Amino acid sequence: MDHFELRSGVLHAEDVPLTAIADAVGTPVYVYSRATFTRHVRVFKEALSALPKVHIAFAVKSNPNLAVLRLMQREGLGADVVSGGEMARALAVGMPAKDIVFSGVGKQAREMIAGLEAGVGQFNIESEEEGIELSELAAERGLRAACALRVNPDVDARTHAKISTGKAENKFGVPIDRAAGIYARLAELPGLDMRGVAVHIGSQLAELEPLETAFTKLGELIAEIRASGCTVTHADLGGGLGVPYKAGEVFPSPAEYGAMVARVTKDWDVTLMFEPGRVISGNAGVLLTRVIRVKRSSNRAPFVIVDAAMNDLARPAMYGAWHDFDAVCPTGERMTAHIVGPICETGDTFAMDRDMDALGAGDLAVFRTAGAYGATMASSYNSRGFIAEVMVDGDKFAVVADRILPETITSAERVPDWLE
Ligand code: LLP
Repeated sequence: MDHFELRSGVLHAEDVPLTAIADAVGTPVYVYSRATFTRHVRVFKEALSALPKVHIAFAVKSNPNLAVLRLMQREGLGADVVSGGEMARALAVGMPAKDIVFSGVGKQAREMIAGLEAGVGQFNIESEEEGIELSELAAERGLRAACALRVNPDVDARTHAKISTGKAENKFGVPIDRAAGIYARLAELPGLDMRGVAVHIGSQLAELEPLETAFTKLGELIAEIRASGCTVTHADLGGGLGVPYKAGEVFPSPAEYGAMVARVTKDWDVTLMFEPGRVISGNAGVLLTRVIRVKRSSNRAPFVIVDAAMNDLARPAMYGAWHDFDAVCPTGERMTAHIVGPICETGDTFAMDRDMDALGAGDLAVFRTAGAYGATMASSYNSRGFIAEVMVDGDKFAVVADRILPETITSAERVPDWLE
């Protein structure tokens, strides 16, 4: 459920008509609803309320805007970060370092040092090599890094191949059949405090069954590690819960997910950790765009050319992802059209032959479910700059990220003397 609804024929974000945001800030612009974020956090927490010990770390990569992170911090969530940049954002909004989980398959020494110096709560180690390096960096500083070992359970998450992470051929984690041995060796190192295991098999999961299979394997691994004499006090179950991108689609609910987790983990005796991203942020944002013009073609559907493009919202071009597209002021009339951006490649297509609200030049529309992996994946391709982000709260709104103009980007570039 979200708070983007038609009121008196105009699409609103909470109590604010999107026309007002377009007038004040221009388009394209990402618009987030605070109430939707808050609702999603609460629903997720409620779904896990039967579990004894829980730590929820919001996946910063899904929406790293500082206002969003601040909201998460106020809701009591920690952060799952995958780079020094994401960690700095979480710290900048006042998230306690102990609530931060540092994930990522390619942590660099300087990022591990920054994490150690900040005192992050847990490093999720993705290889034995990384663990050895982290131990050295920690020991040199007289520290011990609390760590979980990320395992690759070789489970097919049945999602898009580019966002599947738990198959043996994916780069993530250590093979589950070698994990107990690696864990035991890492537990001997002076700079590590091996306290747990972690798994994340992919994103936008439409079924609970692959998660259940992965968690069951993780439970067996915990028993094996304990049998070898090591300690396991934490298990990080990652993120991955999918959300509907098409009106009417039904996905497993957080409550069903929570019930499954409770059943599978009932004898684990650990603190369970979660890294939800999309389930919190996905439906909390839309991309507001204006139609530049409608280009008729002789015997095919017309092209609705909007001012947003693949550089602003990469998901359709990158994963063939569907985003519902709705007029801000629908007339009730419909059309079939291709929805495209202004960028000079055919990949800059949001939808082909889409049955949609009838739109003409100058009309406003939204791509829905753009709160996760939207602004955060933007680029400046075609020298288009980065678009603004707005957060709505009831009847007020604020610009939470300024539009970054192409000239600002150009100002960081130099022509060397020898080309003058
Ligand atoms: N934890 C780890 C270790 C992850 O790699 C991810 C996402 C998450 C948590 C959060 O997953 P979520 O709950 O959001 O599914 N750009 C893609 C999604 C990439 C997800 C990468 N990892 C997209 O637009 O669909």
